[in-house]
Amino acid sequence: MKNREQFSGNLSVIMAMAGSAIGLGNIWRFPYIVGEYGGAAFIIVYFAACLFIALPIFYAETIIGRRGGLDTYGSMKRLAPGTHWYKLGLLTIISPMLILSYYSVVGGWSIHYLFKSVSGTVGQETGQFSEFISSVEAPILAHTVFVILVAAIILGGVKKGIEKFSKITMPILFFLILVIVVYSLTLPGAGGGVDYLVRPDFSKLTGGAIASAVGQAFFSLSLGVGTVLTYASYMRKQDNILVSGLGTAGFDFLFALLAGFAVMPAVFAAGLSPSSGPGLVFETLPYIFGKMGAGSVWLTACVAGVFFLAVLMAALSSAISILEVGVAYLVEEKGLGRSRATLYLSLFAWAVGLLCSLSFGPLADFKILGSSIFEFLDKLCSNWMMPLGGLLFTLFVGWKMPSADVLDEFSNGGSKPWNVKIYPFVRVLLRYVAPIGIIFIFLNSVL
Ligand code: PHE
Repeated sequence: MKNREQFSGNLSVIMAMAGSAIGLGNIWRFPYIVGEYGGAAFIIVYFAACLFIALPIFYAETIIGRRGGLDTYGSMKRLAPGTHWYKLGLLTIISPMLILSYYSVVGGWSIHYLFKSVSGTVGQETGQFSEFISSVEAPILAHTVFVILVAAIILGGVKKGIEKFSKITMPILFFLILVIVVYSLTLPGAGGGVDYLVRPDFSKLTGGAIASAVGQAFFSLSLGVGTVLTYASYMRKQDNILVSGLGTAGFDFLFALLAGFAVMPAVFAAGLSPSSGPGLVFETLPYIFGKMGAGSVWLTACVAGVFFLAVLMAALSSAISILEVGVAYLVEEKGLGRSRATLYLSLFAWAVGLLCSLSFGPLADFKILGSSIFEFLDKLCSNWMMPLGGLLFTLFVGWKMPSADVLDEFSNGGSKPWNVKIYPFVRVLLRYVAPIGIIFIFLNSVL
């Protein structure tokens, strides 16, 4: 086998994995659902979902990836030769490619808004956003630029592309979001937003709220689509799986909280009510920045620019992890060169993304099972393919792999005493708790 590239160490693994985890999910979904489902009460449930359901699945993927030492398909084949498990490897090559296509459309929006911010034309009126996404050229141009950026980073390879990009952008990203948090909290009337996020309202903690917490933890940690597995296959044997998981989940959780405190106080200060999804980030916030910087075009341009730069970085570092899954597969299983693999897959994501982008405008009436192309792909992946992938990964590690092998990988051959101590708990979580948690997500999608 050819020499595979590897991440330089624990810190690099955490930065790359956190880059994958921290993304649009943290910035636009988390702040909204927290308030919707009971503030601090929801945060507690979300924390538990991360720790007891998402983290074990993260470990399952990491264990498969590092032990298999190949792309998703190759790793499954190597660990379960002669069985049908390789199909799970295939599933987790298709799902990320679909995610990449619509994720890149939204990534493109952040580029567009970054330009608008810097050129001082952001947030002068509401309604701009729906006009923008339903138009043809501008969103497609932005989507194209986004895909090119993702491909360029991936072309750099594991060390000079993914690792370098993540190590540079993660600290900057935290710094940028902190700037916005401070700005947001000092606006007059920000207290309402803080209240919205922290006031515990246990009456809102319904079954739906709990399922949403699990689903959000799942999406946020990039589970079930082979990104964690693929990155783990670039981990060195001496690096610590327990630590990399705790580090990644910790940063991801922290960033989600920061995003909440960046977004919601500003929304309340402006006297608006929080909306969900793209509208919150791309319409409400620019409007607020415009209004708050009233009179000062500079201030608006700076604050909005900083914010959209953060969104763009978060989206890019997630998107590269999604593309890498397919690239690793084509390189290792089909013998393609890295450049060719990157080219083919980015073209695919770009083309499908084109349809997603047009589904806000000219193709709006084209529905699949009642949803636009964009919505359909998002629902298919977030509600079904990701949880299914995650469920199968956990079942594989919890029930199919010999426990001694799992422990061996998790504790680096028994050389990490903490990992050995904690393993019995992890095993119970993997076998029982995580699968039940995923079934919650399915039930929530069905009902
Ligand atoms: N975790 C990313 C986010 O929060 C999304 C993602 C999903 C990335 C699946 C990779 C794989 O935005």
